[in-house]
Amino acid sequence: MCGIVGYIGMNDTTETLLRGLEKLEYRGYDSAGIARLNREGVHVTKVKGRIAALREEIEKQNITATMGIGHTRWATHGAPNHSNSHPHQSASGRFTIVHNGVIENYEDIQRDYLADVEMASDTDTEVIVQLVEKLYETLQDVKAAFRKAISLLKGSYAVAIMDEKNPDTIYVAKNKSPLLVGLGEGFNVVSSDSMAMLQVTDQFVELEDKEIVLVRRQEVEIQKLDGTKVERDAFTAEIDATDIEKGTYPHFMLKEIDEQPFVIRKIIQEYQDEHDQIKLDPNVRQAMLNCDRVYIIACGTSYHAGLVGKQFMEKLANIPVEVHVASEFSYNMPLISEKPLFIYISQSGETADSRSVLVQTNAKDYPSLTITNAPGSTLSREADYTLHLHAGPEIAVASTKAYTAQLAVLVILAVDTAQAKGIELNFNPMQELAIVANAMEALCDQKEEMEKIAAEYLTVARNCFFIGRSADFFVGLEGALKLKEISYIQAEGFAGGELKHGTIALIEEGTPVIALATQANVNYSIRGNVKEVAARGAYPCIISMRGLDQEGDTFVLPEVHELLTPLVSVIPLQLIAYYAALHRDCDVDKPRNLAKSVTVE
Ligand code: F6R
Repeated sequence: MCGIVGYIGMNDTTETLLRGLEKLEYRGYDSAGIARLNREGVHVTKVKGRIAALREEIEKQNITATMGIGHTRWATHGAPNHSNSHPHQSASGRFTIVHNGVIENYEDIQRDYLADVEMASDTDTEVIVQLVEKLYETLQDVKAAFRKAISLLKGSYAVAIMDEKNPDTIYVAKNKSPLLVGLGEGFNVVSSDSMAMLQVTDQFVELEDKEIVLVRRQEVEIQKLDGTKVERDAFTAEIDATDIEKGTYPHFMLKEIDEQPFVIRKIIQEYQDEHDQIKLDPNVRQAMLNCDRVYIIACGTSYHAGLVGKQFMEKLANIPVEVHVASEFSYNMPLISEKPLFIYISQSGETADSRSVLVQTNAKDYPSLTITNAPGSTLSREADYTLHLHAGPEIAVASTKAYTAQLAVLVILAVDTAQAKGIELNFNPMQELAIVANAMEALCDQKEEMEKIAAEYLTVARNCFFIGRSADFFVGLEGALKLKEISYIQAEGFAGGELKHGTIALIEEGTPVIALATQANVNYSIRGNVKEVAARGAYPCIISMRGLDQEGDTFVLPEVHELLTPLVSVIPLQLIAYYAALHRDCDVDKPRNLAKSVTVE
């Protein structure tokens, strides 16, 4: 959450900062601001709301500067108002900061070091910049003050600080929050994400936790907290700049829904060798073979993918699997088996809740695998092994293509393990995934049908239930999450048989109930559940799989292998959510209160 950028070079920084923030807006959009340093001093401009509003404000000004820092905020400490917006300044105005993360001990620092400083905001961030100034008063050396301040912080941070008296350096540090330095000719940049700076460079240097970085026009100096210099090579960001543009699509979400067949084909290509066999890191295979139980840790949509992944692994590879919501794991820690393998599923690879579990399992030396769309991310770097989703950048806040990519990689992993264990399967994952890709394409061509369903069922709905049994239940959870997060309709996913144990009380005349019927062994019972709710006035929408369909079903999905139905049944649910949000005039790509990358616990 929150995104930061910085630029120091020979040219005006304004457009680079604004365009960088536009690309980072998925990380939060409660407020935005930039600070630019030129001969006259520091100019801070900030607004409540989106980058577009900031751009409007900036365009009224006539300021040029060759260095600056910027921020887009997802509020944690302090309401999303003007005074809590970044950049923040020290009492004298000499130091200016942008920060992504949460300082856990900010109240202690305030009490111990800043009792006489009047704070201008309610944020934890302001404490950092005031602390640098306070420490400078005694140390009389900015670098030493910055280093000391960083050593006192507990929590997560990616910070960039400018000193009005030194127009040649941006002071940068990170802990747990992502931050990269981008290298250019005569300029250097900092950014929470390489995407934001692809406009000026594709050369980036990764930073490690608790490193101090001095970013200057011609050089970047990385040091450990004790002052030891660190040499690190740059890497080339392999993102195609067009991947992060909407093109002709009205929304990233729609583009990303449409990309799903291509992503599945890309995964087939990446995970298949020239003999049509599964190509997988042998260390991952060995880790799967060595374990007696898999623990999947994830949040939100990735957690829903984990629930389906459990079925793949148990049914195909005969490995017991537990799936845990990352934020609950520490309090509800299960008894861990003798030979566990922890699998972290995370589109961004930066989710703080998942990372916090990884830190704990690493401390116990448990083997770990991250399945992510961002191989250079924190979860990827800190786990023993990584499997890449190859889904391309997912920009819309609501996850779509990452979910189906996660399922595809999980089924390949499960089949690979089964084969390594000598289990005979009558299931070729690559062939079956190719059929899935075709089915997805057919569904993406039927958008009008989904638009009609959304209009018919959800235009005036206050709430909506998704029911299913077995794998359909898990897809229902995902369908409900999609609908509520972008259309703000109260939506819940339920196991078909569970409604009658309480929740059926909420069914009223006209309540939409979307039922999935893709599993042969529960087709009869889920239809029984539909009758139960219909008898109480519900307005059911049945989405069934060809071969299991019955007269009167609302929509029939093209047939795919029964195990893989979640990859196709989710597509109508994504599209229905999309059109429901559109009909309600919601901001599809940037729903309220959310951010794409949840880097706070
Ligand atoms: C919902 C959504 C979130 C994420 C969750 C985990 O559409 O995108 O629920 O799935 O925040 O994020 P990652 O997968 O990046 O760890």
